[in-house]
Amino acid sequence: MINPIYSPATDRYENGMRYRRCGNSGILLPEISLGLWHNFGDVNSLANSMDMAHYAFDHGITHFDLANNYGPSYGSAEETFGQIMKKSFHPYRDELFISSKAGYDMWPGPYGNWGSRKYLMASLDQSLKRMNLDYVDLFYSHRFDPNTPLEETLQALVDIVRQGKTLYVGISRYPKEAAAFAYKYLAERDVPCLLYQGRYHIFDREPKEEGILQQAKEQGVGFIGFSPLAQGLLTNRYLNGIPEDSRMAKDFHLKKNILTDELLQRIKGLNEIAAQRGQTLAEMALAWILKNDLVTSVIIGASSVKQLEDNLKSIRNISFTEEELKAIDILSK
Ligand SMILES: NC(=O)c1ccc[n+]([C@@H]2O[C@H](COP(=O)([O-])OP(=O)(O)OC[C@H]3O[C@@H](n4cnc5c(N)ncnc54)[C@H](OP(=O)(O)O)[C@@H]3O)[C@@H](O)[C@H]2O)c1
Repeated sequence: MINPIYSPATDRYENGMRYRRCGNSGILLPEISLGLWHNFGDVNSLANSMDMAHYAFDHGITHFDLANNYGPSYGSAEETFGQIMKKSFHPYRDELFISSKAGYDMWPGPYGNWGSRKYLMASLDQSLKRMNLDYVDLFYSHRFDPNTPLEETLQALVDIVRQGKTLYVGISRYPKEAAAFAYKYLAERDVPCLLYQGRYHIFDREPKEEGILQQAKEQGVGFIGFSPLAQGLLTNRYLNGIPEDSRMAKDFHLKKNILTDELLQRIKGLNEIAAQRGQTLAEMALAWILKNDLVTSVIIGASSVKQLEDNLKSIRNISFTEEELKAIDILSK
C-alpha cells in the first residue's frame, strides 16, 4: 500500500505547546525540541523515525536538533531527516527550525574533527546535502577546541552565515571563558550567538552552578538543555531492570555500570515524588528544567511516539513547591 502524503495536524499550534524567546533574538523556540542523536540512524526503523518526527511537528515541536555524526552510522540521522524533509516536511520548511553541528569525530584524517575552518565548512556542506536543505537555521560549533585558535572557529561560523548556509550560529559545551570570548567576537561581527547548548538535568546542574545560564542571559543568548532525561535514567525505563531495547542495553553512550543500587534507589525516590505530583518521572524531570526561565528549550530524545506523548505532557505543570524542590535536591546527589 502506498502511504498517504503527510498532512500535519491543523491544530499543531493550539495543542498546548508554548514558545520562549531565544535570548535577545527574534526567534521563538518550543519549550520542547526533538533531538535526533539516537533512534534516527540507518540501524533504526525509518517508519518509526518518521512517525516520531510527524508526531512532534503535529504537536508544536518546530525545532529539530541534529549533528553531522548522529546515527549510527555517522551522517545517517541527517540522511533520515533528509528523507523526512523530502517526503513530508518540504512544504513546511519555513515552519521548521533545524540545527546541525560539527566538532566531534566525523571522517578520517586530520580534517574531520574538532574546530578548524576546513572541518566546519566542509562538514556543513555535507550536512546540507544529507538533509536535502539549502540552509540550516542554526549551526553550532559542537565543542571547544583547545588546539585551534578560537578566532578561526568563530570566523568560520561568521563566514558560514555570510554564505547563507545558516541563519544563526551557536556554541555547545564551551567552557565559560571561551563562551565569553565567543559571544563578544560574534557580536562584534554582527553575527550574535543565538544559543548555548549544554547538558542540564536533575543529576547534572553544571550550567547553573558554573554560571553558564546567567552568562548567556546577560549576553542576550538563549540556553538550550540537552539530555534532560539523563539519557533515560530520569524516566521509568530502568526501574525494573534494563530493557533489551533500551539505550543502556547497548552499553555504549549510556553504560550499564552507572546504574548502581544507590542510583536506582534515588531514581525510585524521584519517581515517587513525580507520582505525588501526578506526573511520570520523565514529565517531572522536564518540568524541573523548564521551571527555570533562563532555559529557552529542552532537547529530548525518544525511541517511540509513546515516549514523546508522555514527555509533551510535562509542560502542563512546571511549578514546584519548596518541599518538592528540596526533596528533589536531596535525591539528586
Ligand atoms: N551538544 C551535545 O554535545 C549533545 C550531546 C548529547 C545530546 N545532544 C542533543 O540532545 C538530544 C537529546 O539527548 P538524549 O537523547 O540523551 O536525551 P534524553 O531526553 O535525556 O534521553 C532520551 C532517551 O530517554 C528515554 N526516554 C525518553 N522519553 C521517555 C519516556 N517518556 N519514558 C521512558 N523513557 C524515555 C529514551 O531511551 P530509549 O532509547 O532507551 O527508549 C530516549 O532515547 C540529542 O538528540 C541531541 O540532539 C547534544
